[in-house]
Amino acid sequence: MCGIVGYVGRDDSTKALDVVLDGLARLEYRGYDSAGIALVAGDVVETRKRSGKLANLLTELDEQPLPEGRTAIGHTRWATHGGPTDANAHPHRGGTDGKLALIHNGIIENFHSLKSELLDAGVHFESETDTEVVAQMLAELYDGDLTAAMLAVVSRLEGAFTLLAVHADQPGVVVGARRNSPLVVGLGDGENFLGSDVAAFIGYTRAAMELEQDQIVTITPESVTVIGFDGQPATGKQFHVDWDAAAAEKGGYDTFMEKEIHEQPQAVNDTLLGRTNEVGALELDELRISEEQLRAVDRITIVACGTAAYAGMVAKYAIEHWTRIPVEVSLAHEFRYCDPIVDDRTLVVSISQSGETMDTLMAVKHARELGALTISVCNTHGSTIPRESDAVLYTHAGPEVAVASTKAFLAQITACYVLGLYLAQLKGQSYAQDAKAVMAQLQQVPDRITELLGDLDRVREIARFMADTRSVLFLGRHVGFPVALEGALKLKELAYIHAEGFAAGELKHGPIALIEPGQPVFIVVPGPDTPHGLHGKVVSNIQEIRARGARTLVIAEDGDDAVVPFADEVIRVPRTAPLLQPLLTVVPLQVFALELATAKGLDVDQPRNLAKSVTVE
Ligand code: F6R
Repeated sequence: MCGIVGYVGRDDSTKALDVVLDGLARLEYRGYDSAGIALVAGDVVETRKRSGKLANLLTELDEQPLPEGRTAIGHTRWATHGGPTDANAHPHRGGTDGKLALIHNGIIENFHSLKSELLDAGVHFESETDTEVVAQMLAELYDGDLTAAMLAVVSRLEGAFTLLAVHADQPGVVVGARRNSPLVVGLGDGENFLGSDVAAFIGYTRAAMELEQDQIVTITPESVTVIGFDGQPATGKQFHVDWDAAAAEKGGYDTFMEKEIHEQPQAVNDTLLGRTNEVGALELDELRISEEQLRAVDRITIVACGTAAYAGMVAKYAIEHWTRIPVEVSLAHEFRYCDPIVDDRTLVVSISQSGETMDTLMAVKHARELGALTISVCNTHGSTIPRESDAVLYTHAGPEVAVASTKAFLAQITACYVLGLYLAQLKGQSYAQDAKAVMAQLQQVPDRITELLGDLDRVREIARFMADTRSVLFLGRHVGFPVALEGALKLKELAYIHAEGFAAGELKHGPIALIEPGQPVFIVVPGPDTPHGLHGKVVSNIQEIRARGARTLVIAEDGDDAVVPFADEVIRVPRTAPLLQPLLTVVPLQVFALELATAKGLDVDQPRNLAKSVTVE
């Protein structure tokens, strides 16, 4: 949700434009309603901006080139206040002398009243955005010190924001501020960087610094100075980024999504890595929560949104089975408002790829206020949710650039499983033996995914034939149910096709009325070894819809012949333990959505209306 980049180099540096454009290209997944750049050029700040994708800004820069410079800020927007027009694109100017420009991610909730004040004072506005209000306030309060002006401005703002500003009278300075919205510092040699996340500057440095909430950072080529919103000096925590620029590039694939689907064996493998000791027992020292506290947990609530919530739903089945602790999954945006039952024996596990999703962040904060123990399952170092939680268990999926989540989903399930097995291990010997056995099975999964990825040509073919399809249904039971939901979500967001996921058992309670001749239905079939005869029940469900004319696209384990008579198509996945199946069964559904969207000529990495990191509630 809006990507932000800032750069400052030495007096003789000429690379500000290149650094910022490079950063914007890597951050475009955060929003692509418009893009813009402001560069300090002599006595003024020059801006260029265009609605639409970054390519439009590049065209603008061809038509109206910017001079070389050493200080610049850039922005890629996901529109909130004000439509996606050129005028509403960032940067916004403050004042009338052309010296100050500002960019913003987030929402200024009290911007109406602030704008009225400024209008009364005779300030003229060029856009409908809340951001321009901040730019104008900053110009009004500027008196030779951009950091001081920023400090004065933030005391007037309500809401969530990351702000970056430059002023022509301080040509070697960029000032940033953050509240409930991401901002990290990149530490260079004779140059420094700011970004919404480390991807913004990964091509230049892997040394980075986290900022806390409510801090202002001032970067020059030689210094990084942090203060709190109370004006007191503060320090940031430095960290090393453990992936490089190549990880954030397509590496020979046509799209990031295709690349990320193929990185799934690695994502699962890396998320398991280093979490067991030499005898196969789980060791999660990184959790930094005492075993006593974890042993006392008598209820778990998972909070997350979208795909991450589906990972949570998968994890619920497994964690309850392994630990016998009740697990509830709550959509993070509902959690706060449902008067949740949470106390100091409740473990609230948040799941978030970005670590910045505002709904999830707010749920975590609320849970902490209620006294819960909070663990963040997160893919992004230096992000907000881990910092606001008691502990973090990182997924090691590497950077996920495609807006629709794939490898993070598998890594989230894996990390939740690791956590569940660890909690089981804490419960005593017999649980610990089982946990060890499941870990051994989990360690086989990356190879199974690789095998599966080499065998999906038929899925691609089916997808291409179905490019004109208007509606697809997905059915699953047990852990296959959230997989069905995820399959439907992928198709909706990538291919803009109406898609619904259902629990297969629910079918006869209503949705079966949707079945008419030719209706395509994916069915995620539990393995024949799944307890309680579930396999047979789903095979019956397939027969029920086939009898009503549905076109049945069946995802079933290798060797499961019972499905063959009732399937129009059988898509095979390698055999694994029932609870581990989602790590395989979701893969053909991801590939199906990717291929169908590609056949429709759509942009799979940047689907319409979406943004990767949703930092507004
Ligand atoms: C769907 C998708 C979203 C995210 C959701 C949560 O493909 O990517 O549904 O899963 O917005 O995002 P994070 O995990 O960053 O909190």
